[in-house]
Amino acid sequence: MDFEQASFKDFEDIEGMDFYGWAEQFDQYVKNWDSRGHWNYRQESLSGCLPEIELAGHPGRSFVAMVFNDYLGFTQHPKVKAAAVAGIGRYGAGAAASPAIGGHFSYHREIEEKIAKFFQRDSAVLFTTGYTANSATIQSLLKIQDLAIVDMGIHASMYEGCGHTNIKMFPHNDMNRLERVLQETQGKYRTRIVIVDGVYSQPADMVKLDEVVKLANHYGAYTAMDDAHGVGVIGKTGRGVIEWYDLFKDIDIITGTFSKTFGHLGGYVVAEPKVVNYLKFQARQHIFSVSATPASACILESIDLIDKEPQWRSKLWENIHRLKNGLDSLGLDTGNTQSAIIPVMTGKPDLNAEVCRLLMEAGIYANQIGYPAVARKNARIRMSVMATHTPEQMDKVLNAFEWVDNKLKISKKHGHQKENA
Ligand SMILES: Cc1ncc(COP(=O)(O)O)c(C=O)c1O
Repeated sequence: MDFEQASFKDFEDIEGMDFYGWAEQFDQYVKNWDSRGHWNYRQESLSGCLPEIELAGHPGRSFVAMVFNDYLGFTQHPKVKAAAVAGIGRYGAGAAASPAIGGHFSYHREIEEKIAKFFQRDSAVLFTTGYTANSATIQSLLKIQDLAIVDMGIHASMYEGCGHTNIKMFPHNDMNRLERVLQETQGKYRTRIVIVDGVYSQPADMVKLDEVVKLANHYGAYTAMDDAHGVGVIGKTGRGVIEWYDLFKDIDIITGTFSKTFGHLGGYVVAEPKVVNYLKFQARQHIFSVSATPASACILESIDLIDKEPQWRSKLWENIHRLKNGLDSLGLDTGNTQSAIIPVMTGKPDLNAEVCRLLMEAGIYANQIGYPAVARKNARIRMSVMATHTPEQMDKVLNAFEWVDNKLKISKKHGHQKENA
């Protein structure tokens, strides 16, 4: 195998070997990348989700961290931390049972009520992660006679939920193609759900929710939206993409995570009370898996802080604008971002990895994203901006990119073109 061109996907199911063989091949791949300084996954952080952190293996150095989706900085907010500690103080360290059979505590009910109200709806159910909220919900609602109509950019967890149903994809945000799928599949399935993200985690842009809702209504399909990256960031009061379009009442299934803006972990599904109740007893990952630990009581505080301390969202957007405008004026390609996720497109996996290596050398910790998360030609550096970054830290990132660009010529200024662009 050509390790320099290979991706994680190539090791999933290698013909003629069992899993020991796959693991051996993968081990060689990791060593090959590491030998060039291109392996930057699973860096061990010695700090929390701070804007500047220390990493194991780099004594005496600090890195501006562009890897945390802690958009409003709530993992470090004193009130959120105190609420997590208080939750543990009152209930103990764990929940020790799944919700249907003992593991349903007052803080779970309070979070469910609060997150439903946050979206101006009546009912919600918690999951232990955002991933399972998506996968379990879609698995429970769509069966073999049904159809998931999905934007190609949706998160892996939604795809996993479609494992036991039929699936048709439309190109990212292409409303003509969505309409065509809706037309072609009309009358052929029992239930159809159009599944979108609010903010897409790799393109970093927003769904055209008004058009999606209009088309779904017109052709008699339901809608599901996961706005993991939009909530807290988008909308006047941080309700996310649903607020941007003012479509609070129009989405059948709203899902999301507490692992980003809310600064903790957990997932939620907001829907009609009967559907929520159905999920409470039918979603396998809900009934056969432990409920969120008492530290989750801190989510109640984070939900409140979104309204009580809007200054974090203002600060976040100042940082987003400073970084994006700076990268744009360096001639770098930041794609179509409309959110706190800022990509820098490089278009080639090996170049991407080298950019990442040099950024580390310059004290910037960012993520390299390649196939299968995005197409090979869309390889990119991905950065998450936080409210707690300082303007100086944003400038440090910009200086580092300028330095890297002078070495590797990745900007339009240097005539860089993406592969197959
Ligand atoms: C769009 C989207 N949905 C869901 C998830 C999963 O959320 P969690 O980390 O809570 O499992 C992620 C996480 O990266 C995501 O980006």
